[in-house]
Amino acid sequence: MKHPILITGGTGFIGSHTVVAFAEAGQPVVILDNLCNSSPKVLDRLAKLNANPIEFVQADIRDAQALDALFARYSFAGVIHFAGLKAVGESVAQPLRYLENNVSGTLNLLQAMDRANVRRLVFSSSATVYGNPVRMPIPETAALSATNPYGRTKLMCEDALRELHAADPRWHIAILRYFNPVGAHESGLLGESPNGIPNNLMPYITQVALGQRACLQIFGNDYDTPDGTGVRDYLHVCDLAAGHLAALRALHEPQLLTVNLGTGRGVSVQDMVNTFARVNGVPIPQKVMPRRAGDVAVSLADPRQAKALLNWETQFDLERMCADAWRWQSMNPQGFDTPL
Ligand code: NAD
Ligand code: WQD
Repeated sequence: MKHPILITGGTGFIGSHTVVAFAEAGQPVVILDNLCNSSPKVLDRLAKLNANPIEFVQADIRDAQALDALFARYSFAGVIHFAGLKAVGESVAQPLRYLENNVSGTLNLLQAMDRANVRRLVFSSSATVYGNPVRMPIPETAALSATNPYGRTKLMCEDALRELHAADPRWHIAILRYFNPVGAHESGLLGESPNGIPNNLMPYITQVALGQRACLQIFGNDYDTPDGTGVRDYLHVCDLAAGHLAALRALHEPQLLTVNLGTGRGVSVQDMVNTFARVNGVPIPQKVMPRRAGDVAVSLADPRQAKALLNWETQFDLERMCADAWRWQSMNPQGFDTPL
């Protein structure tokens, strides 16, 4: 039996898809999550998708005793660390909560790993660490900065990992900088289920398509982009999940890898809305609003490092991202509270 991998935040949006990818690859996993932003019903969906039961521990990454007990119980081969708070606006209103959860939580996890002699980690970072990037596409060597407290927590965790690796080169660390993950598992059993009004474009579009929200607000059509709306690098969440498997495989030697996970292809808000409406045959009422504070015009990954170091690249196109997001939302109008 292979040693299991600990997946923190494994009942969340990206974590749950990664659990499925690992299980399909024959890699046993244990999920740790405090369920602060996910539903225990995700576990029923995972049980439907996987032949073998998935172990789940409800605990907080800030709880050192719980972590020590978990590391004593299992001989983990490594940790994939998704657990964190991720809402930019909320982080502006509650910076201390974000620092506590994301930074103190990560430091606590690293200390528990060190005590248990488990020094292989894949960390969820974000394109947000590029701040207001000057060059497109963005290479991993670009300057780093934070434009909000959420971004600062990612940067602080990245810095801690770089310092840890410099001090103790036994660590195997992959820092993965995700661009804009969207889509859902093709079964329609797993997907993104935000609480309240969605902050992100794709879940907002799917709720408008369902009639739960009247109209998509397009935040600005006067950017210096081909159609004036913001351009992003959207990638399918199942491609992103596969990136974690690739990263873990690449970490056979002690090292620190820093890799963008994106497609390198730009999609505007208008492209996204038009593609979603065409692929799914659903109208999306829309109106143009002023720009949203803090948004950049364009954000695109340079994906070459991921190909070179992880042998990873995306497989799914925008049509597939739109089709899968809509299948998930239309099959689950109440998210995970929708009866199976
Ligand atoms: P998510 O909120 O769906 O999942 C995060 C999970 O972590 C949730 O299940 C939550 O309950 C859990 N969690 C939070 N704090 C915890 C704690 N203290 N202890 C235990 N569990 C805790 O978010 P996601 O979209 O799946 O994102 C996963 C990771 O990827 C996050 O670190 C996020 O910052 C990062 N990320 C996400 C995006 C994105 O657009 N979704 C982009 C870049 C980076
Ligand atoms: C995409 C585009 C909006 C909603 C955020 C975080 C980032 C990362 C991913 C975690 C932009 C436009 C959006 C709407 C719109 N998360 N938009 N109407 O801002 O690129 O990134 O999520 O690390 O840190 O900042 O993604 O999906 O919010 O926006 O017009 O209702 O859609 O202006 O151009 P973003 P997004």
